Amino acid sequence: MKLNDCTAVVTGASSGIGLELTRRLLEGGATVYGLSRRKPAGIESPSFTFLEVDLTHREELDRVFDTVLDREETVDLLVNNAGAGLFGPVEEIVPEEWEQLIALNLTAPFLCTRRVVPGMQAARRGTIVNISSIAGLRGFKNGSAYCASKFGLDGFSEAIKEELRESGIRVMTVNPGSTDTAFFRNANLEPRKLMDTGALVGIIIDMITLPDDILPDRFVARPL
Ligand SMILES: NC(=O)c1ccc[n+]([C@@H]2O[C@H](COP(=O)([O-])OP(=O)(O)OC[C@H]3O[C@@H](n4cnc5c(N)ncnc54)[C@H](OP(=O)(O)O)[C@@H]3O)[C@@H](O)[C@H]2O)c1
Repeated sequence: MKLNDCTAVVTGASSGIGLELTRRLLEGGATVYGLSRRKPAGIESPSFTFLEVDLTHREELDRVFDTVLDREETVDLLVNNAGAGLFGPVEEIVPEEWEQLIALNLTAPFLCTRRVVPGMQAARRGTIVNISSIAGLRGFKNGSAYCASKFGLDGFSEAIKEELRESGIRVMTVNPGSTDTAFFRNANLEPRKLMDTGALVGIIIDMITLPDDILPDRFVARPL
């Protein structure tokens, strides 16, 4: 996929991996719709549209996709990146917080995907990138909620990869380990080592910009 020929939707564009990805997509010439609750700071490009949304509210999510699909014939790239952590002993996890996490980390990617797939199928091209985690591949102590949400996202991503490839749609799963963003501060955790966000995003851009008939279906990386 060539970025200068690409209309992209990035969820969680206001911070961390999503913010850096938005910057790189814009630098490459893409048209980008950024979805988050806060407006991304420092992005002034005329090719960028910020759409304020709480992705755990389904009506809000559908409303912003109505806006995108009114303006654009099709979305070429969807990055399901928005996400949060919730960590602690299983017996202390509050059921409402569990449900909120699943709504953000698992249900929102499904709801976003179902809005872009019909256009991608009609165009017979498109790329969907799901930002999972190492926690989508292995369990961690005190990670039951986060691991469940990311294992779920991995399963969703694997299934739609098989389902959509015959329509010319590429589905990629990214499983990063600890990366230097606000994520751990927000989750009250202190990781031992962190990967550089720019380096990780550079690899995601490399995956996206491979020729459309090559599917790099998974990238796993962690700090050394
Ligand atoms: N950092 C890591 O170590 C790491 C490792 C593995 C995987 N990941 C995954 O990478 C993804 C991005 O995380 P990050 O590290 O870049 O963290 P981050 O800097 O905290 O960014 C999270 C993004 O998600 C958005 N978001 C959170 N709740 C939202 C909601 N209810 N509605 C809309 N947007 C919402 C935030 O925007 P607003 O607050 O403005 O809404 C923000 O833009 C997540 O899926 C995370 O699980 C991160």
